[in-house]
Amino acid sequence: MLRIGSLLVDPPLFLAPMAGVTDKDFRLIVRRIGGVGVVAMEFLSSKGLLRGERRWRRIMEFSQEERPLAIQIYGSDVDSMAEAAQIVEDLQPDLCDINMGCPANKILKGCSGAALMGNLKLAEQIVRRVRRTVSVPLTVKFRLGLDDKRRSYLELGRICQGEGADAVAMHARTARQMYRGEADWSHIARLKEALSIPVLGNGDIREPEDAVRRMRETGCDGVMVGRGATRNPWIFRQISALLSGGKIPMPTLRDRRRLILDHFRTVIDRDDPKLALHRLRTFTGKYSQGLPQGRDLRREIYGKEQPEEFLVLIEDFFQRLKIDAAA
Ligand SMILES: Cc1cc2nc3c(=O)[nH]c(=O)nc-3n(C[C@H](O)[C@H](O)[C@H](O)COP(=O)(O)O)c2cc1C
Repeated sequence: MLRIGSLLVDPPLFLAPMAGVTDKDFRLIVRRIGGVGVVAMEFLSSKGLLRGERRWRRIMEFSQEERPLAIQIYGSDVDSMAEAAQIVEDLQPDLCDINMGCPANKILKGCSGAALMGNLKLAEQIVRRVRRTVSVPLTVKFRLGLDDKRRSYLELGRICQGEGADAVAMHARTARQMYRGEADWSHIARLKEALSIPVLGNGDIREPEDAVRRMRETGCDGVMVGRGATRNPWIFRQISALLSGGKIPMPTLRDRRRLILDHFRTVIDRDDPKLALHRLRTFTGKYSQGLPQGRDLRREIYGKEQPEEFLVLIEDFFQRLKIDAAA
């Protein structure tokens, strides 16, 4: 059991925020499978929120069933971040999270995301103001630093702790690395040694065993899983079983087929065709990474223009897999 401010998290497993991925549908999928402590929303632009843009308002919707839930905001303007934090506070999520790790060029140019790791004074002011604004537990998510020569995670971690953040999460890569190379968890162990607030480790948890091993090796208080959960939404249940000394429950092909078809039917029934098509493409790409012959499936989605075609494609794909498995 992990305590983050007033929030008890059990098990100490977190679905990482992923723009375009951890929408309400996916959060509910992971929550309903079980084993996850906290699920996170995609990041929200503080300026976009203040402008009241429809896109962000829609992203912010969540249901009680998803709880505990974290809402993450990003930005570089202290006042806007404080005002955005107030909007978040009004929604009363279980955690408010500040993004200081996004390495995308568009975000860095706006001096937010990981750019704040190169401007610790500004980072400090943002954490201070957001902390004063929200009463819900506050976390900050960051990387190692801008690049290998400018690793500022220890300073930033101490700043977050000093300004009253209740926990920090670190993706153990630099911004320059983007997603290349391997996450270096030795830095997570160092951060854990340096801080007294909980430290969540993140990066390249692909298999349930990775999570248990990383927690043991680094002493971190919890782990956050991103891409591993889109390949395998059962991963939290599997880690949780390992943590309590049990065996890893394995989803069957039928479980996977049902999960994808249910997800896609929800999207098709609700969204306009253009948006639906975008989501179906994204998720076919993600889900197929956990499947044998997934590459074939990814190839097949090109040229599909009607959302319903995806249902046929998935049915056919699993039919083929079943035949192969029986052969
Ligand atoms: C498609 C995608 C979108 C992401 N969006 C966010 C985001 O909105 N906020 C954030 O803090 N990190 C974001 N990340 C980073 C993840 O939260 C996580 O730190 C990173 O993927 C490393 O963890 P993993 O190896 O378990 O995926 C994103 C990552 C991916 C792949």
